[in-house]
Amino acid sequence: MPDFPAGFRWGVSTSAYQIEGATTVDGRGPSIWDTFAREPGRIVDGTTGDEACDHHHRYAEDTALLAGLGVSAYRFSISWPRIQPTGAGPALTAGLDFYDRLVDGLLAAGVDPVATLFHWDLPQALEDAGGWLNRDTAARFAEYADVTAARLGDRVKLWITLNEPFIHMSLGHGMGVHAPGRVLLFDAFPVAHHQLLGHGLAVAALRARTASPVAIANNYSPVRPAGDGDADRAAAAAYDALHNRLFTDPLLGLGYPDAPGVDPTVVRDGDLDVIAAPIDVLGVNYYNPTGIRAPEEGSPLPFEIVPLDGYPRTAFDWPVAPDGLRELLLQLRDRYGDALPEIQVTESGCAYDDAPDAQGRVNDPERIAYLDGHVRAVHEAIGAGVPVTGYFVWSLLDNWEWAEGFTKRFGLVHVDYPTQRRTPKSSYAWFRDLVRR
Ligand code: BGC
Repeated sequence: MPDFPAGFRWGVSTSAYQIEGATTVDGRGPSIWDTFAREPGRIVDGTTGDEACDHHHRYAEDTALLAGLGVSAYRFSISWPRIQPTGAGPALTAGLDFYDRLVDGLLAAGVDPVATLFHWDLPQALEDAGGWLNRDTAARFAEYADVTAARLGDRVKLWITLNEPFIHMSLGHGMGVHAPGRVLLFDAFPVAHHQLLGHGLAVAALRARTASPVAIANNYSPVRPAGDGDADRAAAAAYDALHNRLFTDPLLGLGYPDAPGVDPTVVRDGDLDVIAAPIDVLGVNYYNPTGIRAPEEGSPLPFEIVPLDGYPRTAFDWPVAPDGLRELLLQLRDRYGDALPEIQVTESGCAYDDAPDAQGRVNDPERIAYLDGHVRAVHEAIGAGVPVTGYFVWSLLDNWEWAEGFTKRFGLVHVDYPTQRRTPKSSYAWFRDLVRR
């Protein structure tokens, strides 16, 4: 592995609902994922995040795993309904206490806490009032950012407002395969705009409470047209505008792109200035490129997603394409030029069906190959002048993978869910050695 610049941040990521469990302790309110997971047929294995990895009780053990890994940062998310059970009003002290202990434990272990404020677990009470379709949710989000930063302030070394607002809009509100399960197709645009507005208002709230840098974590996927024809290219451009530009152009001061569904009547005077408040870091989550072709006649979408041939595949059937990470980093640089802030890759990882062998060891050579390729892609992008200053593996632990329940394992650490026993995989040792070097 080639050398990375001194001070490069190596980390791992998780999110609250996927690992914490303990969903009814300390006054935590229900979130949209508690509700959604209970609806028959929503989650492939019929499970919920009620226990997940029981991290709420085992955070000290998990902090020791982070210390053993030697990472300089840990990205976790804060559960909004632990802080404000109904998404409004005063913060629950007990809810904040948990993150306070976690943050102090991380600092004592020499690991920078990186906190995401919203990783999709909206308080159910806010959903009942319209959720992100309701403009007021943006203001509620800023209030939550304020009360959380009032307690955790500068001890959190990087604040991330939203995780993957595109996925929350498209899978949660467009297609209905994630919570809250709405099927609005392109009528989901207000969810994009109100998340971005909430982000901008939260940036201002955070600035008033902390000197730590502020970021957002977007999901990106370079788009590959299925053929050379104009129709496939036009379809690919439409998908690219939706997936890669809808949330980034306005953040970086360019306003909304010409993407399917954009509805200017939702945007009020001044909103775009709030959204374009300067950020210090752009979080980039990358898993795979997307193949696109022109839609069939009569399709409600202006594109069709098609499998990409010629790549190895993960257990999720996602193509393993490290070149896509380099491509998208260069694309961000070319697209946004001087407007592009420092980048940290805030998620990168893969699911495989990892299981302990007869000796209890978990060998995951595919994950090592995956990470090796993606880390090299980041190095090449840095060499080409893209300002990338960090790389976080998704995920520290095998965890509850949303609509896939417990069927997809992304961790550097294997979790045996019935016993909650943690077993570092061979990729954990590989990543530890990489970080050490
Ligand atoms: C999300 C994670 C998720 C991962 C793998 C990302 O889109 O931020 O929560 O587990 O992808 O699907």
